[in-house]
Amino acid sequence: MNIESLTGGPRSVQIVNIVKENAHDRTIFFKDPDMTFSPGQFLMVWVSKVDEIPLSISYFQDGLVGLTIRPIGSATKAIVSLAHNDLIGIRGPFGHPFDLDCPSPLIVGGGIGTAPLRPVIQHFVELGTEITVVIGARTKDELLFIEEMQQLEGDGVRLIITTDDGSAGMKGFVTMAVAQVLSESDIHTLYTCGPEPMMVALWRMAMDHDIRFQASLERYMKCGCGLCGTCALDPTGELVCVDGPVFSGEQLRNITEFGNYHRDSTGVKQNF
Ligand SMILES: Cc1cc2nc3c(=O)[nH]c(=O)nc-3n(C[C@H](O)[C@H](O)[C@H](O)COP(=O)(O)OP(=O)(O)OC[C@H]3O[C@@H](n4cnc5c(N)ncnc54)[C@H](O)[C@@H]3O)c2cc1C
Ligand code: FES
Repeated sequence: MNIESLTGGPRSVQIVNIVKENAHDRTIFFKDPDMTFSPGQFLMVWVSKVDEIPLSISYFQDGLVGLTIRPIGSATKAIVSLAHNDLIGIRGPFGHPFDLDCPSPLIVGGGIGTAPLRPVIQHFVELGTEITVVIGARTKDELLFIEEMQQLEGDGVRLIITTDDGSAGMKGFVTMAVAQVLSESDIHTLYTCGPEPMMVALWRMAMDHDIRFQASLERYMKCGCGLCGTCALDPTGELVCVDGPVFSGEQLRNITEFGNYHRDSTGVKQNF
């Protein structure tokens, strides 16, 4: 790792497009032809006079990079209100990506957690691998990338949509759909990102079925590159920004805080 390039200031990129993904979420696009990326990695994104926050890369093709954002606080609201030609600062990409060596993947996204899984889906579609994709959200208004996935459905993608309130797809949690998939299909690896209680339930199901598991975790990050220790996990001390955000099922066995608590900006434990 080149520490000098990490500790230096962010580089400026200009927004070239903004896409409305659903009622709340937006994807901003910028060009960065020199960037290299593996699915699962994230950027530290600096918004002038507001904050610097971690955001997963959801689109990456031919020098065009996209970040899909759910506006929940000051920085995310500031980013979704930016306009064409506005500038943001970026550092990265950072983090340990998904292990994509898999003949029969099951990809399960919950809410905004679907963002880092989009490049995983794209990877398998380009390889011609048959995949099952489960996308869940609380309501229809929070589902991500549904139209795009529906267009891929004939190309080896089996798509299952769930909503907690039944406003689209199956009514209920993604775990219900996953239980059905696991009972009828031969799955090698379950890839997931979303609310941690959802990921814990999926991890238990993967262990019960003896299949591999890859999950992207979210923790409070300050530096994003292994310098500050803010994102350390109990009790191993693994850093989510460097050793993750993607962790395997075997690694998660040793993380006692997985599904139980995370730490806020001051280090205080917050239960899930
Ligand atoms: C590796 C990683 C990838 C992420 N990818 C995405 C993504 O693709 N799209 C997306 O919308 N969100 C993503 N997030 C979450 C996003 O970083 C937070 O929602 C954002 O930081 C909230 O900032 P805010 O100022 O808008 O809200 P605030 O009001 O400041 O915070 C709201 C909540 O967001 C969390 N949060 C705040 N700041 C940080 C921070 N620096 N690091 C981690 N969590 C924080 C805290 O739990 C806080 O309670 C990702 C987080 C991580 C760790
Ligand atoms: S955010 Fe600083 S070490 Fe991970």
